[in-house]
Amino acid sequence: MKITFTCNGVSRTVEAGAEVRALDLLREELNLTGTKEGCGKGECGACTILLDGRPVCSCLLPAPKLSGCEVLTVEGLKGPDGSLHPVQQAFLDTGAVQCGFCTPGMILSTKALLDVNPSPEVSEIETALSGNICRCTGYKKIIEAVQLAAERMRAVK
Ligand code: FES
Ligand code: FES
Repeated sequence: MKITFTCNGVSRTVEAGAEVRALDLLREELNLTGTKEGCGKGECGACTILLDGRPVCSCLLPAPKLSGCEVLTVEGLKGPDGSLHPVQQAFLDTGAVQCGFCTPGMILSTKALLDVNPSPEVSEIETALSGNICRCTGYKKIIEAVQLAAERMRAVK
C-alpha cells in the first residue's frame, strides 16, 4: 500500500505493507541509517524515532502506522546550516558518546523530554531515558548531557 508521511520536514510517499517495519523502511528505503537496530524487540531503544513528537521503537512499528504522521529521525535534528542540535552538541561536549550505537535514540528521547519539560529533575531524565539502554557510558555523562542541553536551550528561549 502507498503511505504518505512527513519525515524530517519533507513529505514522503512510499510503498510498504504491514509486514514492513518502520525501522526497515527508514533505513533501507529512505537511507536514514542513523536509526539503529539493537534488540529488534522493543527493549533497547536504539531504534527510537519521534512520531508526532513522542518517542517510539521503530522496530515494533509497522510502516503503515507512519501514515499521516510527523516523523523525526536523528538526521532531521541538524539546523538549516548543518549545525548540530543543542542536544547533539551537549552529548559531544560532556563525553556522553562512546561507541555511539545508543546515541541517536538517546538524543531523540532527550529532545522529546526537553520539548515538554525544559527543566527536568534527574529522576525525570532517568524516567524519560528508561527505554534507552547504553552499554558503554554508565549513564552519568548522559544525565549531564541532558542537563547541559536543557540549560543551553533555556538560555536561548
Ligand atoms: S531495536 Fe528497537 S528497541 Fe531495540
Ligand atoms: S555509547 Fe555505546 S551503547 Fe551507548
